Amino acid sequence: MHTIAIVGLGQGLSHLQAFQMLPDCRVVAVCDVDAPLATKIAQRYEVPTVYTDIEAVLADRSVDAVVIATPDHLHGQHAIMALTAGKHVLSEIPMALTIDECQRIIALSERTGLTYQMGNQVRYAACLHDIHGLLRAGDLGPLFYGEGEYLHDYHDIVDERPADHWRIDPATPQTTLLGGGPHALDTLRWLMGVRFVEAQAYHVSIPSAWHTTHTTVAILKADTGAVSKITVSYGMQRPYCLYYSVYGSDGSFERSRDQSSPMAETTNYYSHRKLSGARRLIPATVPNWYNPRMPRTMMLGHGTMEVEQAQRFLLAIQQHRLADIHAREAADSIVPLICALQSADQGGGVVAIPRM
Ligand SMILES: NC(=O)c1ccc[n+]([C@@H]2O[C@H](COP(=O)([O-])OP(=O)(O)OC[C@H]3O[C@@H](n4cnc5c(N)ncnc54)[C@H](O)[C@@H]3O)[C@@H](O)[C@H]2O)c1
Repeated sequence: MHTIAIVGLGQGLSHLQAFQMLPDCRVVAVCDVDAPLATKIAQRYEVPTVYTDIEAVLADRSVDAVVIATPDHLHGQHAIMALTAGKHVLSEIPMALTIDECQRIIALSERTGLTYQMGNQVRYAACLHDIHGLLRAGDLGPLFYGEGEYLHDYHDIVDERPADHWRIDPATPQTTLLGGGPHALDTLRWLMGVRFVEAQAYHVSIPSAWHTTHTTVAILKADTGAVSKITVSYGMQRPYCLYYSVYGSDGSFERSRDQSSPMAETTNYYSHRKLSGARRLIPATVPNWYNPRMPRTMMLGHGTMEVEQAQRFLLAIQQHRLADIHAREAADSIVPLICALQSADQGGGVVAIPRM
């Protein structure tokens, strides 16, 4: 029986609910600096222990694993503290905001043998299962180009938040590339099976209303010679969208940009050299963010993705094997975004991505 503590109770609540749906684990503590929030959630979800600082969680010997769902700028230090205290870690995106913190998380997880997983739940989206298999099997041939987009109107994210919320606080604003960016880049990199070696990026110069960047576009060169484009926009006037496309010598994949809700169906588009008579992309209707083989009771705000992610995290601990997005794998997605952000912040230019 694994014992879990959830730190940060916004998105952390989804993790709490996900682990409570699974056997072989128990959520034994919640932690948030907002004491009334932590108490309310503990009562509602029948969690026995409430903490208001992470140090107390880490000192609790009855806790095996910690979910870090605190603001972006705290993930690196919280993961380092948790691994140092001997806890397994499931961390929200991004892994950290600095290369130094990423390196320290890799070193700690490898030295201790503890499980570290970065939680990009989009890798468990049902709409991407089949195309990932086809790409891994080489069905689309050598891949030469891919696109990943995270398009999310920031009004939807922060309009109900207090004026001093971390996402819009000028001292700790959420950035485009390290905010929604990991959903775009980590998922695309997983689809393409590449490592990025160079990045350059531009911020759109329109100011945003939220002390963060309106839109950022990054171009990345992969170790295979393929090129990718990542777009993250908080200012686009359109419904939420996670878009991917991947192009190979034998075929192409494009996800719809008109995606419907997590629990609905969506359309993927394909083209293949062997169907050379086709003059239209081939549409396939697939489940969006829910796995139809899982009970509907396991659906949360993001469909079944968080439950599958929690399952995989527990399995990695039980089987003493690397998590799906283990520390090095997480760094292979986050360090390119740190480098691309550096490029955009300095007005463009190539930044070499260090190998972790
Ligand atoms: N994977 C996803 O789809 C997804 C969705 C939403 C948010 N997130 C990520 O989750 C993280 C949290 O975002 P959110 O929307 O839940 O924000 P939020 O502000 O709603 O929740 C964060 C919580 O952390 C608490 N907190 C702040 N500092 C803390 C500390 N030092 N110790 C303990 N608790 C602390 C805050 O009081 C707050 O309740 C962010 O990194 C965000 O990017 C991921």
